[in-house]
Amino acid sequence: MTTKKPTDPNLLMSRRAFTASTAAIGAAAVFARPSFGAIASLRGENTLRVGVVGCGGRGTGAVIQALKADPGSVLWAMGDVFEEKIGACLHYANEAMLDLDDEQSTDTWAKKIRVEDRRFSGFDAIHRVLSSGVDVVILTTPPGFRPEHLRHSIEANKHVFCEKPVAVDAPGVRSVLESARLAKEKSLALMSGFCWRYQDQVKETFDKIHAGGIGELHTIQTTYNTTGWVEPKPRKKEWSDAEFQLRNWQYFTPLSADHVAEQAVHAIDWQAWAMKDRPPLRCFGVGGRQTRPDLAETGNVWDHFSLIYEYAGGVRTYHMCRHWPNTPSDNSAYFLGSAGNCVMQPWNGTHTIEGENPWKGSAKSNDMYQREHDVLFRAIRDGTPVNDGVRMSHSSLLAIMGRMAAYTGQVVTWEQAVNSQAALNTQPWAFGDRPTPAMVMPGTSEVI
Ligand SMILES: NC(=O)c1ccc[n+]([C@@H]2O[C@H](COP(=O)([O-])OP(=O)(O)OC[C@H]3O[C@@H](n4cnc5c(N)ncnc54)[C@H](O)[C@@H]3O)[C@@H](O)[C@H]2O)c1
Repeated sequence: MTTKKPTDPNLLMSRRAFTASTAAIGAAAVFARPSFGAIASLRGENTLRVGVVGCGGRGTGAVIQALKADPGSVLWAMGDVFEEKIGACLHYANEAMLDLDDEQSTDTWAKKIRVEDRRFSGFDAIHRVLSSGVDVVILTTPPGFRPEHLRHSIEANKHVFCEKPVAVDAPGVRSVLESARLAKEKSLALMSGFCWRYQDQVKETFDKIHAGGIGELHTIQTTYNTTGWVEPKPRKKEWSDAEFQLRNWQYFTPLSADHVAEQAVHAIDWQAWAMKDRPPLRCFGVGGRQTRPDLAETGNVWDHFSLIYEYAGGVRTYHMCRHWPNTPSDNSAYFLGSAGNCVMQPWNGTHTIEGENPWKGSAKSNDMYQREHDVLFRAIRDGTPVNDGVRMSHSSLLAIMGRMAAYTGQVVTWEQAVNSQAALNTQPWAFGDRPTPAMVMPGTSEVI
């Protein structure tokens, strides 16, 4: 098992809020927390108890990956704001375990599901899962809840897998950085859902670029263009405003961060990776909502963004994302350098450089989602916790910064983004009335 070296805080953040947090992460001493071995022997078994909060698509996938990652991992507790999501997740997890069992084995995999009555619904599910005796928690709700859930999890001394993006606004990102610092201090593992960082072909490509394979990198272009998104769910009359928004969370910026930060953040993370997680100076951009049906359930998010980030030394990076029906999908990256150009299209296995030193990637493909959990559980067992906290916060903020720039029509500096006080979830979440967030208008909006 390799321990991840904390990203160099000096490279990553040169500005106030981030500097304080990341320097602390990099420098934090490793305080004694009982190792898993000690906990397990106290319990008289070698299990790692897994809890999940947010039992939708990704939560279900992550549960299955967590169970496959470690011989002793068991699904122990489940939480979701909606009861029926827990049942569905449990069903698919059971099916997946049964599929792994063969006729020779004695239901080994299926025995990994030990949830019993530890199924918790409602907004307090996070607290009930955390106090149920779990060792590791999977945080896969919409990102609007992530900073708060992560803080509770680390305060409760749990190892964490948390999905991207890690927040929907800058106050949330700062909270996550503080939780990451605390996780480091407590020797707790913190793995993010920026899964491409665990894909071997993509990693090989970035290693090549960082080793000078295209000379001096000066321009990056990424796309995350798709023909559609999650189908909006028409409102049922018994649903409160809050339930309606939760069931259509992708379409409400306070819950999803908008698609540039919810989905396209993967491609923006590629930019961050290529730039060695160095922050840009500033960003500006455009966007809007051209083809999204103007329905209540499609909330206030836009359907396209185009962003330009400027870095020190004249490097410029471009990102475009859109959800437009009947248009080509494309999720690619182009890295242009002084000695060559690299094309990366990981969905079809294209990893090539043309120029002074032509190159074609040779790494084998791997299941990046599974790898994340393999690394996470190995790290927990070895007592050498991974901590993705800084870079997952950085990439999330890069995308949020792009949204800020497009929503306002202003040039947004990294410093403004880092220090932004605009919080999108000021009203605590509960079932009941909840105003629909307003659609922003560039040039008039002060959301920053
Ligand atoms: N890394 C990836 O490639 C990848 C892929 C898909 C989704 N994701 C991310 O995973 C997260 C979840 O996405 P999804 O597609 O699984 O969505 P989903 O709607 O399928 O699941 C989210 C679940 O969270 C539950 N939930 C909402 N608020 C909650 C709360 N306060 N407490 C407990 N449960 C709550 C919902 O009821 C739902 O079951 C998002 O952040 C998304 O961006 C990442």
